[in-house]
Amino acid sequence: MREVPGHRQTTPLMVRAVAGRLVVLISGSGSNMEALADACGDGRVPGDLVAVVADRECMGLKLAEQRELNHLLVRPKDYESRDAWSEALRDEVAAHQPDLVVSAGFMRILAPVFVEAFEGRLINLHPSLLPSFKGAHAVRDALDFGVKITGSTVHFIDNDVDHGPIIMQKPTPVRDDDTEESLHGRIKALEHRLLPEVCALFLEGRVELAGRRVRIRAR
Ligand code: GRF
Repeated sequence: MREVPGHRQTTPLMVRAVAGRLVVLISGSGSNMEALADACGDGRVPGDLVAVVADRECMGLKLAEQRELNHLLVRPKDYESRDAWSEALRDEVAAHQPDLVVSAGFMRILAPVFVEAFEGRLINLHPSLLPSFKGAHAVRDALDFGVKITGSTVHFIDNDVDHGPIIMQKPTPVRDDDTEESLHGRIKALEHRLLPEVCALFLEGRVELAGRRVRIRAR
């Protein structure tokens, strides 16, 4: 952890906050990256978003640029193999010395070489109540299955897809007239609070892992 002078300092007498370094991985619209950037900016998350990394050109990358966040593109097609891409991605992320790496709408499976490099400080945001509806079409699958409640999950990443220990979940009811779009919109609204909350707890050192169980330590 690193101290950022003046960060979150609302009065000259306030003790300086200890700040962590966050790296966010994205592939799409980047609304969760923005929610996290806002939360870092206004002190809800005691950290700095030091890099936004995308695997493709996407809206989120443009938004990161507009916000003057450090952003970079690491595309599989620019590498000889998936292994070479995974190693490059690991090295780019590691170069930013992250305390926490957040996969927020990153639409690729992270290889073991990446997962192992950031073990215990690598989390994913998934738009269902895991272990239900793993995979890339979680919102559609929940709707098609007919569940009445779905939601979002933040979990540690391990080497199985959408499988690692669950840190926090938030639910939302499914409405009779929901479409994939309307339901995903409500889930994202939840996520915009859920993800900063988890990142804050993590950077405050309050997330404890015991086997598969995660406990949030009281202040
Ligand atoms: C989120 O719903 C997240 O759960 C899923 O992808 C979506 C990303 O949305 N993995 P955005 O790019 O942050 O808007």
